[in-house]
Amino acid sequence: TRALTILGIESSCDETAAAVLRLEDGRATLLADVIHTQLEEHAPYQGVVPEIAARAHAEIADRTVAAAMKQAGLSYAGLDGVAATSGPGLIGGVLVGMMTGKAIAQAAGKPFIAVNHLEGHALSPRLGNDCPFPYLLLLVSGGHCQFLEVRGLGDYRRLGTTIDDAVGEAFDKTAKVLGLGFPGGPAVERLAREGDPKAFSFPRPLMNRPGLDMSFAGLKTAVSRAAAEAPLTDTRLANLCASFQAAVCDVLAGRARRALEGFDPGEGEEIRFVVAGGVASNQAVRTALEAEAAAFGGRLVAPPLRHCTDNAAMIALVGAERLAAGGIEGIGDLGAGARPR
Ligand code: KG4
Ligand code: ZN
Repeated sequence: TRALTILGIESSCDETAAAVLRLEDGRATLLADVIHTQLEEHAPYQGVVPEIAARAHAEIADRTVAAAMKQAGLSYAGLDGVAATSGPGLIGGVLVGMMTGKAIAQAAGKPFIAVNHLEGHALSPRLGNDCPFPYLLLLVSGGHCQFLEVRGLGDYRRLGTTIDDAVGEAFDKTAKVLGLGFPGGPAVERLAREGDPKAFSFPRPLMNRPGLDMSFAGLKTAVSRAAAEAPLTDTRLANLCASFQAAVCDVLAGRARRALEGFDPGEGEEIRFVVAGGVASNQAVRTALEAEAAAFGGRLVAPPLRHCTDNAAMIALVGAERLAAGGIEGIGDLGAGARPR
């Protein structure tokens, strides 16, 4: 089959990213992969501020795309299409990315492909790893927390989701009440290594409930209450982090077990369980999920951290796979609008 070269743009949260990807015989090669994170701009506010994000995207989107094209050594004429995240996400950033992508596509006379951000995460394990369809996916980031069955391109089934906070959000809020800064995940994980996971017995919400929905808001409240009971010594802080992380791991592992029980990859197919999103970089979470996959004779696949968190390579991949599948005709999705949800 013909090789396809796609420019991808991602700007739905606090990363401005552009990537150039080449898809040939079902194999993806990255020619460029640029990610600008705005973490420093948002850190003083302990969270992502939409207005600051929108301005930052508007300021650096053009430069980010130019840097990716330069890295790939291509002009726009060398592209077969342009893909950009069309949602869900913060509307200001999504608009910047889409308008940039549409303008380039229009000027170069190439199809534009509007990509759902979650579909990007869903296909991200296919960027580097050998990860054919079908697979079970747990997407755990600051904004998303869901189990998906990924059966093929465009063939996704949502099995369960959080009914309140996303897991990353729970890490961030817990870090905030403990005074650990933003983003909280890495700080909580670091301190948890020194602590006793059994020091506090925090709730495991919905653990034994049927279905695959999850809940994390109560956990944050429990940590906050426990933190207020006595002065926060170093030991106490580490114990709170370790106990919180243990509860998160138990909940995710319990739900993963249920998801794996219900997952049928088909006759003779290996059981592939993918974890993606920022929280997938947490070693304790990975270890807990690895054990569940192994218990079912399966394999846990975790994309490298660079492609777990928000990136444009996954957006370019979705664009390329959709174009290769023949789902895009003429100017493509030039009429598509930006969607916050
Ligand atoms: O995927 P991501 O970069 O952005 C979203 O799309 O949300 O995920 C960011 C989230 C943040 O909530 C952050 O605290 C969490 O992932 N995170 C972690 C770790 N590293 C990042 N959570 C737990 N442990 C970590 N090591
Ligand atoms: Zn994301």
